[in-house]
Amino acid sequence: MTIACYAASVKTSARTRKEQIMATALIILAAGQGKRMNSDLPKVLHELGGTPLFAHALAAGSALAPDRVVLVAGNGAEAVTKAATDRDDEIEVVLQEERLGTGHAVDQARTALGGFTGDAIVLYGDTPFIRPETLEAMMEARASGADVVILGFEAADPKRYGRLVMDGKELLRIVEFNDASDEERAITLCNSGVVAADSATLFELIDGLSNENAAGEYYLTDIVEVARAKGLRAEAVTCDEAETLGINTRAELAAAEAQLQDMKRAEALENGVTLVAPETVFFCADTVIGRDAVVEPNVVFGPDVTVESNARIRAFSHLEGCHVSAGAVVGPYARLRPGAELAERAKVGNFVEIKNAQIAEGAKVNHLSYIGDASVGEGANIGAGTITCNYDGVFKHRTEIGARAFIGSDTMLVAPVRVGADAMTATGTVVTRDIADGAMGVGRARMEVKPGFAVKLFDKLRAKKARQKGK
Ligand code: UD1
Ligand code: CA
Repeated sequence: MTIACYAASVKTSARTRKEQIMATALIILAAGQGKRMNSDLPKVLHELGGTPLFAHALAAGSALAPDRVVLVAGNGAEAVTKAATDRDDEIEVVLQEERLGTGHAVDQARTALGGFTGDAIVLYGDTPFIRPETLEAMMEARASGADVVILGFEAADPKRYGRLVMDGKELLRIVEFNDASDEERAITLCNSGVVAADSATLFELIDGLSNENAAGEYYLTDIVEVARAKGLRAEAVTCDEAETLGINTRAELAAAEAQLQDMKRAEALENGVTLVAPETVFFCADTVIGRDAVVEPNVVFGPDVTVESNARIRAFSHLEGCHVSAGAVVGPYARLRPGAELAERAKVGNFVEIKNAQIAEGAKVNHLSYIGDASVGEGANIGAGTITCNYDGVFKHRTEIGARAFIGSDTMLVAPVRVGADAMTATGTVVTRDIADGAMGVGRARMEVKPGFAVKLFDKLRAKKARQKGK
């Protein structure tokens, strides 16, 4: 498998291409029911590498720096719309109320793209591995004169895929399996579903579609024949079959996840990251890890994690939505939740949870702690079992700990509260008031020592036990 997922280099080439050529719009088909997923969740919202399926198609298409993105939703449209609009990128969602075929699905984007001039690229929301470079190749074919470009692949087992009928470089037509003759079924060059054409042309061609076929659907694939009838030229660009893998079942989703993990591990190793046991480390599609970082076995990365060079993520840690700076050490058994920011050489040790908190340079939170909604100053030392009591049941409150402060073990910091720089808390203190710079906070019951008391107490208890046995 040689698929590189989110290659950074692609962005540059997309820009150069964009400078040379016209605008692009993505049309992502995502109306399908995904019946075989056996799920209440629309298929394109199932996650791969911590990101919904449709976002993978979007990521590939983003390499073309599209001016417009239209998502065609149908089944579970409400949830799909919410997921699409919650994202930063501007996605227009259009509704396909009735599923009358892929041609009909693309047609739903017509109004949204009404004023748009440029190329339209049709992608499937359930096909996550199309490489940006492949889309680039399709755009090159467009630029060198093909009116319609179809992405094809040599199928090891062509199954029910649409077959590409070629005449040299020219694509004559696409025939769906159900409509194909035995001779056509023998063709192994198949249709991936990805299409590129001038937007206005595409909708004109769709006007020429009919649903007189085995499935009674408006096949997008028929635009090739319509185009040829109009004297336009269609071509196929090919890619590796692995890129065209579509997700229809949970088993396929799991297989795709395994494929993505392999890709991410290979990418990390190639980028100079040490993975002690690569097969036990799980990444998200967007995980970024710097050179010479070390990731020990059994580490899980959730969405939105950046780990800088020379950091060490020790075994059995779970990280999401966080940033780990150079030289920091995390774990073993640490949990970094969204908003955790570790500065250089910070240390977060075993059974420590950090959420929405900044741990400044060289600060240490080494054992059994919860630090949430807090800032911990440079070089501060947080003793074992320290807890920020950040939640009162309704509101969240912040804790601020100054530089070089020493927080004694088992300190409860009842937020909002501030511990100054160079300040200290005594072990077991419940901090309910601010502690000034350089001051010490002590808040615990005074201890007494009673000589001989333990022996007397044990004697009494043992006597009681003996009496009970005698009864
Ligand atoms: C389609 C192609 C086939 C190709 C195969 C690749 C057509 C007619 N056939 O077949 O040549 O080999 O994909 O996987 O295009 N969708 C909608 N609305 C619809 C119909 C489909 O949004 O009304 C979406 C689906 O959610 C899916 C995609 O379009 O993401 C493909 O639809 P699907 O029914 O899976 O097409 P196939 O029959 O597999
Ligand atoms: Ca399909």
